[in-house]
Amino acid sequence: MITLEKVCFAYEHEVALRYINLHIDRGDSVVIQGPNGCGKSTLIKLLNGIIFPSEGHYFYKGHEITEKTLKDRQFAKWFHQQMGYVFQNADTQLFCGSVEEEIAFGPVQMGLSEAEVRERTEDCLKLFGIEKLRERPPYHLSGGEKRKVSLACILSLNPEVLILDEPLAGLDEKTQDMLLEFLQNFHKAGKTLITITHNRQLAETIGNRFAVMNEDHELTIK
Ligand SMILES: Nc1ncnc2c1ncn2[C@@H]1O[C@H](COP(=O)(O)OP(=O)(O)O)[C@@H](O)[C@H]1O
Ligand SMILES: [Mg+2]
Repeated sequence: MITLEKVCFAYEHEVALRYINLHIDRGDSVVIQGPNGCGKSTLIKLLNGIIFPSEGHYFYKGHEITEKTLKDRQFAKWFHQQMGYVFQNADTQLFCGSVEEEIAFGPVQMGLSEAEVRERTEDCLKLFGIEKLRERPPYHLSGGEKRKVSLACILSLNPEVLILDEPLAGLDEKTQDMLLEFLQNFHKAGKTLITITHNRQLAETIGNRFAVMNEDHELTIK
């Protein structure tokens, strides 16, 4: 489903990905590990179509993902709906006046009917136990609450692939357990997960394939 062929990426003067080859099948749960600065966050930005290979190719379901192919509005809409990306910092993702509006935003953009939007919003509020927060402005929530809201927003889009960067960081134990259970169910439902984590328990619980990046920005699959 996802194929990277000899993908390289460099920021202005800084190489961040070096000849990455990676194949991910539908239903895989890939855990990516590696030291600080090795390129993990860069790799998932690339998978999510925020940045593009400077060399090599990225294919998603047979379509090459480039700056040019994502200029096609319809294709870009489809692609971004397939890929749910949970940012490391939830603040950059939340901008609506209330939690409810925030969760409904994606489904509205997708053009779903009012009834469907309402149903998805309610399902996601329930899933994360945040019904009580529905009227609150996301901006004033605690860090963990914001994390739950941003996850709920992503899941309201019903993505095919969920990409997570250190998903447990800053969450209390109860929320961590809830998220672990959710991710296991997501994987069991046949969806694809890509997770960056230093947390061994999380890696062992949800991963079925393990990729390691090194300080030379190379990736190997174990
Ligand atoms: N926006 C940026 N501009 C320039 N260099 C960057 C930028 N983002 C990351 N880098 C550099 O690219 C390398 C990989 O970063 P990153 O992918 O964030 O690593 P990781 O997530 O594995 O800690 C690091 O050397 C980092 O300093
Ligand atoms: Mg990172």
